[in-house]
Amino acid sequence: ETTLRAAAAKAGLFFGVAASPGRLSSIVGQEFNQLTPENDMKPSTIATSSGALQNTGAADTLVNHAQSNNMVVRGHTMVWHSQAGSLQGANQATLNTFIGNALTRWGNRIAYWDVVNEALEDNNTGRRRTQWPHTLNRDANGDGDFFDSTDTDVIRDSFIRAKQVVQQNSLSTKLCINDYDVEGLTVQGGTANRKANALYDIVRTYRQYIDCVGFQSHFNDNPNSIISNDLQANIQRFADLGVEVHLTEVDIDDDLSNNDIGQGQADNYRKVVRACLNVARCTGITVWGISDSESWRSSERGLLFTGGNGNYQRKAAYTAVLDELNKG
Ligand code: G3I
Repeated sequence: ETTLRAAAAKAGLFFGVAASPGRLSSIVGQEFNQLTPENDMKPSTIATSSGALQNTGAADTLVNHAQSNNMVVRGHTMVWHSQAGSLQGANQATLNTFIGNALTRWGNRIAYWDVVNEALEDNNTGRRRTQWPHTLNRDANGDGDFFDSTDTDVIRDSFIRAKQVVQQNSLSTKLCINDYDVEGLTVQGGTANRKANALYDIVRTYRQYIDCVGFQSHFNDNPNSIISNDLQANIQRFADLGVEVHLTEVDIDDDLSNNDIGQGQADNYRKVVRACLNVARCTGITVWGISDSESWRSSERGLLFTGGNGNYQRKAAYTAVLDELNKG
């Protein structure tokens, strides 16, 4: 196959891209069969303080573009401490209202929704505690465990609400939890990735409400970095819980210091794609933008194309991904 989307489809996955309305050039529909709104479905854009929807125009544009190009959509994202806009500080009831409105607004036009994003601490101590919405959590019996049935748990309660809305409206939309630095079984130095373990515990505990797990996959171009050989093993253990796994926001730094004209980056992309291909329930990969110059981390040249404004050139990383997908 000669496009990422065709090669991926043949291998049984989607290959997607994060997009904004200003970036919908023809390459989006040619190369990708999945689309994630990079910013336009975040509460900061679409939520009012009461959980109603507003300003859905950009999101609609993206969903319509996806539909007319036969792309599936990943909605991104509902319950998140960042980019919450007027929803910031809302209680669980208001979050639930927003969850219901967002799910029913697009219905089955959204195949996957990131219901909860980045719920875990960076310092590997488990769930966020000090930032809203995680400050809504109540450890009712004070035993330090937020998973007791008497506790209020924003992750669990948001997924319960989302699942209820899906069922009441007979939707096929799948409900995902998404995070970063959860990709490897181990971290640099070979110690266990406790952030990944914390995510694993959440998914295992709430498996009945959670359909899919996103590993954001913002990687470094360094053979000893988080693109470790245990990416596949970590994908596998989540898949073994019965959930789909997606690599949802892939970009890989190109470390120019090694003068390898993007070859190390291309090899790393190959490894990441291979890890997903090797696990049947790893059903999709999304790159976080089309070209380096339009990326949130543009100075690190982490994507598959150079150029901009609809005029893009393929990099070595593009060729590596296409080739690996074509191997199936
Ligand atoms: O649209 C305004 C523009 O009008 C204004 O002139 C400009 C001035 O700063 O800002 C523009 O908004 C920016 C927006 O991106 C669109 O470019 C925001 O400031 C900026 O904060 C926002 O950054 C986004 C970031 O999330 C915010 O947290 C990035 O584009 C987006 O790629 C990034 O995506 C996140 C995922 O949602 C979650 N995982 C991590 C990932 C990378 O940070």
